[in-house]
Amino acid sequence: MKHTDIKEVMSNAALVGTNVVVCGWVRTARDSKNIAFIELNDGTTLKHLQIVIDKSVMNAPAGATNLGTSLRVEGEVVPNMKNDGVEINARSIDILGACPADYPLQKKFQKLETLREIPHIRVRTNTFNAVFRVRSVMADAIHRYFQDRNYVYVNTPLITGSDCEGAGEVFKVTSIGYSDQYKSEQEYYADDFFGKKAGLSVSGQLEGEVAAMAFGKIYTFGPSFRAENSNTPRHVAEFWHVEPEVAFAELSDIIEIAEDMIKYIIRDVMEKCPAELKFFEERFEKGLIEKLTGVVENSFAVVDYTTAVEQLIASGKKFEYPVEWGLDLQTEHERYITEEIYKKPVFITNYPKDIKSFYMKQNPDGKTVAATDLLVPGVGEIIGCSEREADYDKLLDAMKQRNMNIEEYKDYIDLRKYGSVPHSGFGLGFERIIMYVTGMSNIRDVILYPRTVGSIR
Ligand code: 4AD
Repeated sequence: MKHTDIKEVMSNAALVGTNVVVCGWVRTARDSKNIAFIELNDGTTLKHLQIVIDKSVMNAPAGATNLGTSLRVEGEVVPNMKNDGVEINARSIDILGACPADYPLQKKFQKLETLREIPHIRVRTNTFNAVFRVRSVMADAIHRYFQDRNYVYVNTPLITGSDCEGAGEVFKVTSIGYSDQYKSEQEYYADDFFGKKAGLSVSGQLEGEVAAMAFGKIYTFGPSFRAENSNTPRHVAEFWHVEPEVAFAELSDIIEIAEDMIKYIIRDVMEKCPAELKFFEERFEKGLIEKLTGVVENSFAVVDYTTAVEQLIASGKKFEYPVEWGLDLQTEHERYITEEIYKKPVFITNYPKDIKSFYMKQNPDGKTVAATDLLVPGVGEIIGCSEREADYDKLLDAMKQRNMNIEEYKDYIDLRKYGSVPHSGFGLGFERIIMYVTGMSNIRDVILYPRTVGSIR
């Protein structure tokens, strides 16, 4: 069906005075004796296009003004005196799909919680139009950032035989249904599809490191899966993960890259999605645009974990969870550091080795590792990052201390045997940065179909 995008009709002055065909869904309508107005949206822009039906010229088919109805409209593009834009004087209207009165989006504003019950319909609201356009622009910016800087985009496997983070949050992959015929786990897995235990990947890092040892700079951008029992506004069981891995980079280098990339993405959204950001500012986060401007114009803070712990203790604030050197920082601590102390994105560096993963480079102090998390106000952690342990013996020691099955990681350990180099990488949670950029406070509202504990459809 040949038609013009509503975005094009609304932005191309050369179309004024010409006849066009537009298609879309009715967002609102007003009907009176001599004239009717329809606000039509085709998803190409947040704005609706006004269709004017002069009843002395034509009559719209019955039901054309029902909310949610899909239409094909032919008419002349004319200036809209009220808003300096354009509207369409309709010559003919065809209903593509009728929409009955039980269409769920009858009210102008509905709570986000209510909309989560109808994921297949909520995408038709302004909020989700804006969220998903920003998401799409951000995905493009991420690819462009890495592609323009000689990174190779690699697709790491989603089904893996090893657990990258070692946190026991792996969804099992099996082709055997419930069965009580096996006497042990070993017997069961031996009979299973891969002949051994397999799961959905929590991170593409280990395979990303393999690729970085050949292509130097790589990135992955795909889904990761975590069976963590965290019913919070920041966790989903299936999230999109951006994971660059850079050979010959130390911790300070990868921190620079992460900051540069975040600023690049935000600048791109500010340039390409001003209408969407204005919408988020008005509806969801007052001061959003000023916040984003501050992010791109200022440097991020870099604070040692030990200093952060001292600052938390010195603050005198009563936290629910204890603050003590050696303990992991909880969300409340992270939020205090980034929202109250620094009021901007903060890299916390050099965490105690016992609370971090086996693959992180061990610092000379013997107590900490060259790792960093990037925390941002309002969301908390958006990036987990580290320099990797490149020394064969030290890596093996760290794995043994954690009682890991060395055999399962043989390929990974080989990287330290054959031409090992210093290298670093990070994982950015795509939904988390979308939350930060849009001001949406629940991760369920920035992904098409959120998968969370006890909920899937
Ligand atoms: O800090 P994480 O666990 O780091 C890794 O997976 C490393 N292997 C990454 C690397 O160095 N290549 O996870 C990285 C990021 C987190 O900072 C967070 O933004 C996101 O992934 N993330 C989640 N996002 C949504 N829901 C969840 N359940 C998430 N778990 C992690």
